[in-house]
Amino acid sequence: MQEPETAGAAGAPISSETIETLLNRVSVRGFTDRPVAPETVDAVLRAAFRAPTSSNIQAYSVIVVRDPEIKRQIAPITGNQPHVTAAPVFLAFCADLTRIAHACRRHGHDIADNNLEIGLVSSIDAALVGMSAYLAADSLGLKGVMIGAVRNDAVATARALGLPHRVYCVFGMCLGWPADIPKQKPRMAFEALVHQDRYGVLRGNCTMVEEVADYDAALAAHYGSVGKPTTPDSWSHEMDRKFVPQLRDDLRAQLRALGFDFR
Ligand SMILES: Cc1cc2nc3c(=O)[nH]c(=O)nc-3n(C[C@H](O)[C@H](O)[C@H](O)COP(=O)(O)O)c2cc1C
Repeated sequence: MQEPETAGAAGAPISSETIETLLNRVSVRGFTDRPVAPETVDAVLRAAFRAPTSSNIQAYSVIVVRDPEIKRQIAPITGNQPHVTAAPVFLAFCADLTRIAHACRRHGHDIADNNLEIGLVSSIDAALVGMSAYLAADSLGLKGVMIGAVRNDAVATARALGLPHRVYCVFGMCLGWPADIPKQKPRMAFEALVHQDRYGVLRGNCTMVEEVADYDAALAAHYGSVGKPTTPDSWSHEMDRKFVPQLRDDLRAQLRALGFDFR
């Protein structure tokens, strides 16, 4: 008889250190005063730079922000999220087209009026480096949270970080030694997210509508258990509030001003 997919050879659940790390991951927003050594951040980033990169473009740069004054400039852009100033280290993961622009210039070309593909792949590259850095940091006991709110005003973030033309901050990351580890937020059911061979062929015959309703209830129960006010249709309500009206609707114009045309 074939082993069930969730079981190893001896019937034990399939697991590994990396799988356990991922299964236990949670965003952490509270940090102790313990400093994070520059060598530690360097080690984390060196590992992260081994992330795959589309066609080897390596179209990212990371700004390691420790200066409280620069963190104080970034915080209001993020809606004054307290962890942005409280974290010992704030990493800014940037899509960076400057080196590609240089390479093309050497061949008599420019990348003015650049298209969606280069904007996307550089942003994907930065995201892969960011998550890899998070996992490398976590393996040392560091914790943190990603900060997409830097894109509330991408131009102001670029100014605060001194980013040149054709560099934008895709997201930031607060990093430090955790003061406490919050309770994990539930995720949508595995069955709702994984399709077999073709979209819509879900395991267990669940429907998207049922899965969202179940998740609304699970998230409402979670928020109830941690004392966070919510509605019975917690997740659906959050999504509606977040995306209607459209979030960061001026982002395209802002990124264009920074040299990403997304044409
Ligand atoms: C790209 C990205 C941007 C995020 N931006 C913020 C942010 O600005 N502020 C914040 O507190 N959390 C931010 N988060 C964290 C999410 O809110 C969090 O991952 C999500 O609620 C799920 O919770 P968990 O990570 O604890 O499982 C961000 C996460 C990602 C991936």
